[in-house]
Amino acid sequence: MISREIPRTYRVKSFGCQMNVYDGERMGELLAAQGLAPAVEGEEAELVVLNTCHIREKAAEKVYSDIGRLVKAGRKAGREPMIAIAGCVAQAEGEEIMTRAPAVSMVVGPQAYHRLPAMLDRAVRGERATDTDMPAIAKFAALPARGNGRRRIGPAAFLTVQEGCDKFCTYCVVPYTRGAEISRPYRDLMAEAERLVEAGAKEITLLGQNVSAWSGEDAKGRVTGLAGLVRDLARIDGLARIRYTTSHPADMDDDLIAAHGETPKLMPFLHLPVQSGANRVLRAMNRSHTAESYLKLLDRFRAARPDIALSGDFIVGFPGETEAEFAETLALVDAVGYAQAFSFKFSPRPGTPASSMDGQIASEVMDERLQRLQAALNRHQHAFNRASTGKRCEVLVERRGKLAGQWLGKSPWLQSVWFEAQCGPGDLVTVELGEAGPNSLAARVLEMA
Ligand code: 5AD
Ligand code: SF4
Repeated sequence: MISREIPRTYRVKSFGCQMNVYDGERMGELLAAQGLAPAVEGEEAELVVLNTCHIREKAAEKVYSDIGRLVKAGRKAGREPMIAIAGCVAQAEGEEIMTRAPAVSMVVGPQAYHRLPAMLDRAVRGERATDTDMPAIAKFAALPARGNGRRRIGPAAFLTVQEGCDKFCTYCVVPYTRGAEISRPYRDLMAEAERLVEAGAKEITLLGQNVSAWSGEDAKGRVTGLAGLVRDLARIDGLARIRYTTSHPADMDDDLIAAHGETPKLMPFLHLPVQSGANRVLRAMNRSHTAESYLKLLDRFRAARPDIALSGDFIVGFPGETEAEFAETLALVDAVGYAQAFSFKFSPRPGTPASSMDGQIASEVMDERLQRLQAALNRHQHAFNRASTGKRCEVLVERRGKLAGQWLGKSPWLQSVWFEAQCGPGDLVTVELGEAGPNSLAARVLEMA
């Protein structure tokens, strides 16, 4: 075993979902607590963490090519970086990565990264280590407290409240890579949210693979669901906005729907994946809803909060999907009128039931369906934006725009809004929404908060 120099700088590259972004931030905090500094933009880091995603595509192949690139760049710079593979590819293919990629020192799964400092010590001694244990609660308990006033963060922060999934949709790897559903304890979440706000957050997005399944015991020992957590978070002074994502239609309860009507800090936005508009496909996907029950559920949200913006996820080309079934998806899209949505070609994930189902669809057919679906979704998004023109709303300022004096922020409906003002990140400005493009809106500032 050859020992190595202790890395002085690190970079965490996160791929995939927002939960990975959150995990990446926490890994960065852990490494900073070990005395490593974040690498300067444009410079090679001495420790690189690739925080990978396994949900679609040839994720693993991409990881190997990224590793190759890092090694090459490091050689050129005179020092090969220490490499850690984290995230869902690490969970799914840990041992194989170790065998195939000798340049990798550490493989750490999404539920084990709190042990990164100990793994780093071993890596410095020249030992390679894999940790893909799955006790998520242990991870959260072991992570150091956040914020503590030293580190300023951006105005829009993430907070993982729930992890894992028990739904076992037949196409999805998440139940295998992230494990069973667990909820983080109420008091930990309240404390972390308070620290995020102290560190500069104005908006918190509660994250979970199945966030609406969160449950816990509140300060008075009462069992509460996501709605109760949202209401209590809304009492934090200085926190202006709350969002949550991602939800499964099966776990949306009356209380959460009601919270959308009663809690002004809960933003009028709902990301509720449907995946398909055809009931036969939904059954084969092991989704527990039908197109009709999904539409009824949306009606209840609209009754509570008439201006709620809707978002969803779609998969085209699920095994056996016929042209007529795909047309049902298009019809559902027209019936809902989404403000935005994500759509994907079916990708057979190793070990999932759908990967070996009959009737796999040719890639060209999927491409063509995806194009049609995305054209419809873009049309609805543009229409939603156009219907917002003339509305008065608050925008949370996030960053500078391309032109001098220009700023970008988000509307309550999660639209990107740009405007000219003398302001800074974290300000809430009242604007009148103006000209609407497909992906953003211009606005005129009426009032500064
Ligand atoms: N193929 C294509 N899309 C998938 N998703 C999850 N698994 C797959 C897969 N195997 C999509 C779903 C989910 C989103 C996060 O990713 O639409 O809601
Ligand atoms: Fe995957 Fe379905 Fe769970 Fe979402 S609900 S994470 S798609 S298994």
